Amino acid sequence: MPASRRGSGSFTLTTGQTIAIHTRTQDEEDLPHATKKTMADHLRKYESLFTLTPQRMRMIVEAFTETLELGLNKPNQIVPMIPTYVFGWPTGQEKGDFLALDLGGTNLRVCLVTLQGEGKFEISQTKYRLTEEQKQDDGQKLFDFCAECLNTFVETNTGEGAGQLKPGQSLPLGFTFSYPCSQERIDHGELIRWTKGFGAGNTEGRDVAEMFKKSLEKYQLPIKLTALINDTTGTLIASHYVNPKTKIAVIFGTGCNAAYMEHVKNITKIEHLGIDPGAEMAINCEWGAFDSFEHEHLPRTKYDTVVDDTSNKPGEQAFEKLISGRYLGEILRLVLCELIDEGVLFLGQNTYKLEKPYCFDTAFLSLMESDPTDELLMVIGIFTHFFALETTLAERQFFRALAKLIGRRAARLSACGIAAIVSKMNYLDEGCSVGADGSLYNKYPGFADRVHEGLQDIFGDKGRNIVTYHAEDGSGVGSAIIAAMTKHRKDAGLYLNV
Ligand code: GLC
Repeated sequence: MPASRRGSGSFTLTTGQTIAIHTRTQDEEDLPHATKKTMADHLRKYESLFTLTPQRMRMIVEAFTETLELGLNKPNQIVPMIPTYVFGWPTGQEKGDFLALDLGGTNLRVCLVTLQGEGKFEISQTKYRLTEEQKQDDGQKLFDFCAECLNTFVETNTGEGAGQLKPGQSLPLGFTFSYPCSQERIDHGELIRWTKGFGAGNTEGRDVAEMFKKSLEKYQLPIKLTALINDTTGTLIASHYVNPKTKIAVIFGTGCNAAYMEHVKNITKIEHLGIDPGAEMAINCEWGAFDSFEHEHLPRTKYDTVVDDTSNKPGEQAFEKLISGRYLGEILRLVLCELIDEGVLFLGQNTYKLEKPYCFDTAFLSLMESDPTDELLMVIGIFTHFFALETTLAERQFFRALAKLIGRRAARLSACGIAAIVSKMNYLDEGCSVGADGSLYNKYPGFADRVHEGLQDIFGDKGRNIVTYHAEDGSGVGSAIIAAMTKHRKDAGLYLNV
């Protein structure tokens, strides 16, 4: 066997950057490195910190279920359980052209969706990258940028050349705004708080639908905002459109959240609206906020506390901070920094690159876990290419095991959230499908299996009845279907009665 081997590969980071790396294992060790035994000892310590027992999971599920109930019964709770004014499931026969605008955690996406009925659709779309500045600057400016992108998109895709719009005609738009907004009707939404690192000024507490309409007016666009929706609600509806067994939708991306369909009679906090108690309405849980501020139920490590304390919203989104793609890389980085400070890792090497907050992308955890080589060539590549650090095999195995602990904890905690909705709605015996989307779910190896394993740890064998699957595009197709459903309600004169 040769003393060194080469490896190469390429991948895309969440920042959109595509990286090609070429690596080769070290022939000789010329730097002081931690021994295999030291690394194994450390791993044991982290194992006990990051591992969730089935018993602990069941306790979390119990507290979670109570929190969901509380949010339905009382206004302004930490987990707000937001009524979305999306009534019931789509029929599958929704038809027509709709625009969808998606302001997510990383990108702005504009789509033109043609619903063809029978669960079929066509979609064309353009993505625009959001800068850090835009996320923190003035809110109205952010919506102006959304309108500007829409304008460009509409000109290119529905102009005379494309021949889609007749003079005087306007296109209905579903706006997917994936932040907690309390709604009084479907085309209204007061931003409760920014999440996922956004902090644009003059927006919290205001009706973002109104702000957005103001931006649309500036461009005199032939567009009518029909529905303001959350990505989870869109995912729920889009997934049900193609798979009617879907009862719950979860996003595992920059943020983490879920939506499901609730009986109006159970949403007691809106009893005064006089909506038919026999109707059904989608609820955007905003479960990322579970255990915020009080930190009573979730197993937080000191690394999680640092992530929280140094975030732009300390105390908030406690559940999300243990799960979502925005934070997992940072949690791992903080563990590595601790071992650097303790003099265990990278002795004699310059570690400044690794000391920069959020420099360790969550995509690195996925890559480390999926490295198929015995020498862990991908891990070598990540550390040399991005951080100019040499590693030994024992260290690389440790890094990979650490990624596994952090990724597995995120998946098992997610299972607790799903289990809480399943218990609350009594879905366990009949079973249900859970539409899931987001980079963590789609790209992190084994994430879905770990969620399923978690569900079985909570519910025993019956946990197998709850199955997650890769959802339909909620913010594009889902938003269009909801715009279609809303238009239908309006045409039927139902809108004013909410
Ligand atoms: C954050 C947002 C929530 C969204 C989720 C996934 O938790 O608050 O509205 O659904 O991220 O994008």
